[in-house]
Amino acid sequence: MPLTPTEKIWMDGELVPWGEANVHILTHALHYGYGVFEGIRAYATSQGPAVFRLTDHIVRLFNSAKIMLIDVPFSFEEIVEATKETVRVNNIDSCYIRPIIYTGYGEMGLNPMPCPVNVAIAVWPWGTYLGDEGIKHGIRLKISSWQRHDPNAIPPAVKATGMYINSSLAKVEALKSGYDEAALLSPQGYVSECTGENIFMVKDGRIVTPPVSAGALEGITQKSIFTIAKDLGIEVETGNILRSDLYTCEEAFLSGTAAEVVPIRSVDDREIGEPGPITRKVQETFFATVKGEVDRYKDWLEHVGT
Ligand SMILES: Cc1ncc(COP(=O)(O)O)c(C=O)c1O
Repeated sequence: MPLTPTEKIWMDGELVPWGEANVHILTHALHYGYGVFEGIRAYATSQGPAVFRLTDHIVRLFNSAKIMLIDVPFSFEEIVEATKETVRVNNIDSCYIRPIIYTGYGEMGLNPMPCPVNVAIAVWPWGTYLGDEGIKHGIRLKISSWQRHDPNAIPPAVKATGMYINSSLAKVEALKSGYDEAALLSPQGYVSECTGENIFMVKDGRIVTPPVSAGALEGITQKSIFTIAKDLGIEVETGNILRSDLYTCEEAFLSGTAAEVVPIRSVDDREIGEPGPITRKVQETFFATVKGEVDRYKDWLEHVGT
């Protein structure tokens, strides 16, 4: 999906014009993938733009940095405020937000510790990540021939830039084979997650999603779905899922900040069909929530102010 530029990008405390937000070719993270990031969305609400679960995303960002032993040169509060400021100055109602903390220019080699640490926050308008048709009628999923990395190779709790080559390998394979998205299996053979989304299936009327130990990121959308589903009276559990469970489940869907909530209509050409009632209900409630239409979840919306 091509980028639509906005006006300003926040870089190390300064608001820089979009076209001038550049880095040196010898930026350490570009070569070794040593950076951490978040994907966040702001939505238009009747009280102006609001960032969905901003605090939770910035907590995860700082936890990613901590696991990677990256000292963030800004406080938690400064990054929260800078995120709101970046949405505000770009005069945008709804957008995707990308904060990134990365090893900068000045040192090369595999020891990142002497490198300067830079921080940037960009925002841009981003439509449905897996397409409007996907949101309505579901996507075609492929089980990847690529495996999710072992938790002792790269910790799944970290959103590190470098680890996403695993996701991109799976994504490219799926697209070239005529599918919309891929799910990866853990080294133990259990379903882990999709390339940038958590996965859920419905079996015997209950929602099941893989545990962190299967290599899945603890998704903030996933956490929201847990709450939404329980409040709707639907049972939710984390449990190991085999690929064959996906072939025979009643319903399946995926969730993530970029993708939002998307039904899965088939897995490896085994039809699941049009989105079922549980998927629809969760999806509808999620979209109403992010627009500020559900009172009980209003705390999840952090307004950027004027
Ligand atoms: C690998 C991976 N899994 C799951 C998710 C979903 O997480 P969230 O709902 O917090 O965006 C993401 C997106 O951040 C991701 O990159």
